[in-house]
Amino acid sequence: MFEQLDPPAEDPILSLTVAYRDDPRDDKLDLGIGVYRNAAGATPVMAAVREAALRIAEEQDSKSYVGLAGNEAFNQALTSLLLSGTPALDRAATIQTPGASGALRMLGELIAYARPGARVWISRPSYVNHQPVMEACGLEVREYPYFDPDSKRVDEAAMLAQVAELGPEDVLLLHGCCHNPTGADISWESWQAIADMAERQGFLPFVDLAYQGFGDGLEGDARGLRHLAERLPELLIATSCSKNFGLYRERTGAAIVIGESLAHAQRAKGHMQRIARATYTMPPDHGAAIVARVLNDDSLTQQWRDELDGMQQRIVRLRQQLVTAFRDASDSDRFDYFASHRGMFSVTGLSNEQIAHLRQDHGVYVVGGGRVNVAGLSESRIDKLVEAFLAVGA
Ligand code: LMR
Repeated sequence: MFEQLDPPAEDPILSLTVAYRDDPRDDKLDLGIGVYRNAAGATPVMAAVREAALRIAEEQDSKSYVGLAGNEAFNQALTSLLLSGTPALDRAATIQTPGASGALRMLGELIAYARPGARVWISRPSYVNHQPVMEACGLEVREYPYFDPDSKRVDEAAMLAQVAELGPEDVLLLHGCCHNPTGADISWESWQAIADMAERQGFLPFVDLAYQGFGDGLEGDARGLRHLAERLPELLIATSCSKNFGLYRERTGAAIVIGESLAHAQRAKGHMQRIARATYTMPPDHGAAIVARVLNDDSLTQQWRDELDGMQQRIVRLRQQLVTAFRDASDSDRFDYFASHRGMFSVTGLSNEQIAHLRQDHGVYVVGGGRVNVAGLSESRIDKLVEAFLAVGA
């Protein structure tokens, strides 16, 4: 039966990783997939994570099943990290998922079950997996205007004008911080305006927060989300420990539902457990066990926070260094946007042709649409990036 299959579409990010791996050039530069690298170009295991993993290896006395919702100590700790200080914590129910993509799928399935005709609105552009995951759940996907390619900022007026049209059948998928792919985040005023409109118009916000700690710190990055949680009766959250705990391959994430009451949220959690049973049954344990250890031990938590802050500050420095290097080499300020963006990524506005030349002529890999992973750059490679960009006419 397989001979009838169409060739599958390639994932634009993961296929790039394979192409990069197969490129024999020594001076190639991978600015594709969202992975943090240190000054030596490595993605080391965080020290707090290593210590927690060692303790688990010594103390864990069973590999028996955990449960459909995964590790409840992890669920509780992660929910508190996101919603700390908001009364909505008492109306939240959480299920551990295989990464944030697993959480997106879980919540998409929940929406499709609870509100079969719902439309999910995603930003233009958005994370490459948003549309495929929501469509795989049978949901209709629409786009709201987001990025202004000229200013490289959010076109908040256009975005809010679209949001003003949404009603009870609509779900608004927002990036909690560090917008992927653009790096351009909405302002505090827009978070407030969205909360006002959701309250009035009855649409459901769904926040994807995969980079907490990489933009403006753990608290700053959760500010918009917490505002929605404080104001609204219902909210969906997908989150990930891939980046802020460096647990990429462990597939560690969570789907959180805030309901009008705890009983409503728990009913939703029951359905998420049913959905998990019908797909993968239980999420993998290791990453969640590590996070639970870190977040339930004061000294490990402090060590992890310090390491995360160090990564965040280094990304900010890299962004400033990029701006300086571009100013010096191009005698213009047209690359200053790198410093106003937050988190790992920036959309550069490169054309497909320029992206192809970067790859073929310079061994520089960036994602289609011109997304650059600034957090994948090391200080010693800034000049190479700048030179390659200017050579392709950026
Ligand atoms: C990215 O956008 O590069 C990451 O979030 C990896 C992924 O899952 O696509």
